[in-house]
Amino acid sequence: MATMREVAKLAGVSVATVSRVLNQNGYVNQETEKRVKEAIQTLNYKPNEVARSLYKKSSRTIGLIVPDISNPFFPELVRAVEDVMNIYDYTVILCNSDEKGDKEKEYIDILKQRYVDGIILTTNQLTSEELSDINVPVVVLDRPLDHSFPSVVANNYEGARMATNYLYKQGCRRIAHIQGPLHVVNALERFRGYQDEMKSLGLWDETLVFIGNYQMSEAKIATMEALTNQKIDGIFAGNDVMAAGALKAAQQLGLRVPEDLAIIGYDNIPLAEMTTPELTTISQPIYDMGAIAARLLVKKIEGKPIDQIHHVLPVKLVRRESTR
Ligand code: RIB
Repeated sequence: MATMREVAKLAGVSVATVSRVLNQNGYVNQETEKRVKEAIQTLNYKPNEVARSLYKKSSRTIGLIVPDISNPFFPELVRAVEDVMNIYDYTVILCNSDEKGDKEKEYIDILKQRYVDGIILTTNQLTSEELSDINVPVVVLDRPLDHSFPSVVANNYEGARMATNYLYKQGCRRIAHIQGPLHVVNALERFRGYQDEMKSLGLWDETLVFIGNYQMSEAKIATMEALTNQKIDGIFAGNDVMAAGALKAAQQLGLRVPEDLAIIGYDNIPLAEMTTPELTTISQPIYDMGAIAARLLVKKIEGKPIDQIHHVLPVKLVRRESTR
């Protein structure tokens, strides 16, 4: 592979001149620039991106940290971020933290060493204080922090009230909620929406809440236990993966969905149309969330004006077969 020194020799200039032409900074007369570009083409020289990053303290890459790449919600979010970042000629380094704070800290250190130009975070393990020493722009996506950083989330609270009220309108009166991880802010917002709606309907009963941690297996076990021990005629699950777990539990107990038990999920990932019956769910604008977050980050990196720092996107009810 040709080196910068060989380009300089062929063009009859110094290495510093070649560097100025490559990085488009500093004066180089037209004739010299032409000779350098011809030498680059002749030798098929490819700049060393790591060296360029070190020189420019910029790598035209961003870091995207997600908590659980095995959950189908995140690949759709990642797709949107990558599509938009590629339009602006940025590469995405995807990091999966497995909901572990230590792993997220490690990734942030690695991303800083790689001179990423910005980071998009979709996790709640680290506080904004812990993130404050990140020396590049950060955008928080999907899982709200405080308003220390630009953010893009969906309206989790309203979505939960919508789901709970829909089950009530279906005739359900013993409505259970399968909650996501206690440390995840959007799981807490969905729980609060469910709780407030149940209180406004005069149906609140804390024994109807159980934890599924956004996982299918945990939701299935928790639902089996709840359905065995008490009368439940409706379930609002904090995400579609847990709703699918609840569906498996109900069917294993010989209950008919929705006749005996109505179930509603949250996210509207492709899985919701693959279960039998198909899942009624609250649809998050997943792609739009990722795309808006990516555009926000590019503006922050490039120092362009931002007309809106915090975005809360609406959600909508998608009716399918798991409710009446
Ligand atoms: O299903 C995974 C959940 O975690 C989604 O509801 C999404 O909001 C993410 O935070």
